[in-house]
Amino acid sequence: MCGIFWYQGKETHAQNILLNGLKRLEYRWYDSAGLLVGNQKEIKLVKAIGKVSNLSEKVQKEINAEEQFSFGIAHTRRATHGGITENNTHPHYDNKQQFYLVHNGIIENYHKLKQELIAKWYEFYGQTDSEVIANLLTEHRNGNFLETVEKILQIIKWAYALLIVSPLAPGEMIAAKIGSPLLFGHDKDNNFFLSSDKQWLIGYVDQLTYLEDGDLLHIKNNEYTVTSKGIPTQKPFEEMDIKEIESSKGNYKHFMLKEIFEQANIIRRIFKWRVDFQNKILNAEAFHGMQNENFEHIVFIGCGTSYNAGSLGKLWMENLAGIPASCEIASEYEYRNINVNSKTLYVFISQSGETADSIEVLKMIKEKWWHTFGIVNVVGSTISRLTDYGLFTRAGAEIWVASTKAFTAQLSCILLLALFLGKKRALPKAKYEQILRELAKVPTMIEDLLADQTQIRELAQELKKYNNFFFLWRHYQFPIANESSLKLKEITYLHSESYPSGELKHGPLALIDEKIPSVIFCPQDFLFEKNLSSIQEIKARNGKVIAVSDKEIEGSDYTIKIPKTIDDIYPFITVIVGQLLAYHTADILWKNIDKPRNLAKSVTVK
Ligand code: G6P
Repeated sequence: MCGIFWYQGKETHAQNILLNGLKRLEYRWYDSAGLLVGNQKEIKLVKAIGKVSNLSEKVQKEINAEEQFSFGIAHTRRATHGGITENNTHPHYDNKQQFYLVHNGIIENYHKLKQELIAKWYEFYGQTDSEVIANLLTEHRNGNFLETVEKILQIIKWAYALLIVSPLAPGEMIAAKIGSPLLFGHDKDNNFFLSSDKQWLIGYVDQLTYLEDGDLLHIKNNEYTVTSKGIPTQKPFEEMDIKEIESSKGNYKHFMLKEIFEQANIIRRIFKWRVDFQNKILNAEAFHGMQNENFEHIVFIGCGTSYNAGSLGKLWMENLAGIPASCEIASEYEYRNINVNSKTLYVFISQSGETADSIEVLKMIKEKWWHTFGIVNVVGSTISRLTDYGLFTRAGAEIWVASTKAFTAQLSCILLLALFLGKKRALPKAKYEQILRELAKVPTMIEDLLADQTQIRELAQELKKYNNFFFLWRHYQFPIANESSLKLKEITYLHSESYPSGELKHGPLALIDEKIPSVIFCPQDFLFEKNLSSIQEIKARNGKVIAVSDKEIEGSDYTIKIPKTIDDIYPFITVIVGQLLAYHTADILWKNIDKPRNLAKSVTVK
């Protein structure tokens, strides 16, 4: 998504800090970047299409190195309203150049506001909703910067994270947010920073705070005040917990591959803190707090990869905890007519903790006072703060767009939750102990699988010839097929569908021929035999079959061998195959794996 970064402090060349900040978030998808720098006398604006290096070159040319600028705002834009043009690139300004701003989010009533402004002879140089805000400020200007901003905030319909400066109010900056994230921090020398993204602040701030919806931050004469829905408030600051940004891919060809390899140790770390394997005890603070709750229904909520993780949660809850469960796509659930009772636990799964669709549902559930649980990677993020209970996945910063290590970390936490609730209910002791025994072996099984990727690489050479794929599944392999199909789409741009094997005969068999390979996840679980029949159905129509199994599958064109484990644990292993298939196919096709087109790591708009 779009990114905002603001600096004010002792540095005399604010553009240097801004450009450094922009460079470190370059891996995210954006189409243009811009910045403004200012001092007591003037504001300078530079914008460029494409890479940050283009902006950097323009800054060298257009900003005199001898001039001093103590504050500045940088922005990366991913086009939503209006094409990829310099005019649509942030920062934006009004017709009289009295207000300059950057904006993340979408102003839902911008069209009507724009028409009203046009009727008053305002002119627009671009198509963005953000430019409307700039002209609205001029229209409502009353000589007091703060009051003017407060006035227009009553008019625009969110979502926004907004930063506004004005040459009429030198040394002042106002930030406001509803919906989109905004973090404020400072270092020991009173250099102030504001950003839409925690990553951006790493190494710059020692203390940080999260602005909440309705907060307005006003900086004036190097002092700041925050009001919350108009009432002055003291924000609680916390230590910045991440000290260094992960910027090296070491010996790995891509960052994605590096993160795939990190998975075994992440799972070890999660279990080290939360499972006493010897005494077969689950240790998590969240569980202590929930000891007396008796949930009758579990609803998992997520988007993308996190939704896929929740889908496995649903199956584990049913099977291990004996609790009816469902998993819902956040962007859909919001509009549903929900009839659950107050003994429902809502589990929000999110790597970033900032996904707008999930947050929207969370707010809706909180209004009803229902129980909420967060499985989140980013400490301090909105979802982690708003949920009643939670487990941090502690996967470390997942920087690269195609999510891998966050997924297996989410699975680890979800399974612990299912075991905790299962232990209180239907789960037999022997089953509980068997799962813990197998779980302890997962990191080593993953390492074994990763140790030799020759077969998957060879297979990817073959797969690159196809344009369409099926990923087939039954039961526990549903989320894994979904996730593998998603990974393939994200980084190869090839079409694939995830489908239940049992449904093939109800339609999709019509598509099967030698041009569409089917990857079928068929470990030796309780549905193994059924999967063998599905393979026969495909072979009878000349379809190519790639089986992922712990047993050589007769009749398939390839079997990708995985270590043997138990039904409930196979997904940890099969997903690694899905990740590698996508990775190697994309690599062989020369795709830009670490910067897949059109995708954003954290989707903070609806
Ligand atoms: C984006 C990312 C996906 C991610 C999804 C949910 O679409 O590209 O990789 O799974 O958002 O993000 P979250 O941070 O809530 O897990």
